[in-house]
Amino acid sequence: MTDTTHQPTPPPIEIIEQLTAYRAQIDGLSTGDTLRWAARTFGKNAALATSLGAEDQVLTDLIARVAPQLGVFTLDTGRLFPESYDLIAETTKLYGLPIDIYFPEASAVETLVREHGVNLFRDSVELRKACCRIRKLEPLARALSTKAAWITGLRHEQSPTRTDFEVIEFDAVHGIYKINPLLAWSESDVWDYVSKHGVPTHALHTQNYPSIGCACCTRAVEPGEDVRAGRWWWETPDQKECGLHVVDGKLVRRSD
Ligand code: ADX
Ligand code: SF4
Repeated sequence: MTDTTHQPTPPPIEIIEQLTAYRAQIDGLSTGDTLRWAARTFGKNAALATSLGAEDQVLTDLIARVAPQLGVFTLDTGRLFPESYDLIAETTKLYGLPIDIYFPEASAVETLVREHGVNLFRDSVELRKACCRIRKLEPLARALSTKAAWITGLRHEQSPTRTDFEVIEFDAVHGIYKINPLLAWSESDVWDYVSKHGVPTHALHTQNYPSIGCACCTRAVEPGEDVRAGRWWWETPDQKECGLHVVDGKLVRRSD
């Protein structure tokens, strides 16, 4: 199993060269063409990681339209909102695309909650990260262990921790490429696409939940608050990453 807790070593020169070549190939492509390129380059060995948020629903819609060879998977932490399950069912039915669901290791969750209680994430940042590690990072590592690339709905605007990300990166933690086709999209770009194409979205988006994760760690935002203010709201903005995305992007920079 991939150990996601250690700093990865920098990728070898061949990977950096390949990454440079990939960046040249996708430079200037539209989002749809970037997905077509991913399907041509990686086929079913590339998959979208969907959290069922609006960005990921846009990508699922695009994949169904232009690149159905790509896979789609989600991480069910066991603490999702009921509405998230409704959307998984609705999306699967509408697009006819299977969404692979990865669960945490039952014994690891049992040990964690036995030792620290069911709501341990409120007690310290370390325990919150331990919960994310067991419920999200380990299943993600398993999901990616058979892939050559993964696709996310990350956007630059979402957080100060996301401004350095690039459309394609080498994810040295998992040893595969990571594609972020929506990086440059604004929130209104996302919602314009949703309304134009009738994309099904999470019921909680209409109740002031712009960013949705686990039910116990997500609240509605107040008017004027940023889109991720409702995630782990008791922590400071620089701590608000569960580790799915925090290290990559800084390892292989175009200017390096
Ligand atoms: S998180 O790291 O804070 O949880 P966020 O909710 O902003 O991430 O989502 C960013 C991207 O991470 C999503 O577009 C999606 O690609 C991926 N992601 C987040 N949560 C999940 C999940 N439960 N399952 C699969 N992918 C996810
Ligand atoms: Fe655990 Fe909260 Fe992280 Fe979900 S978001 S895995 S409940 S700490």
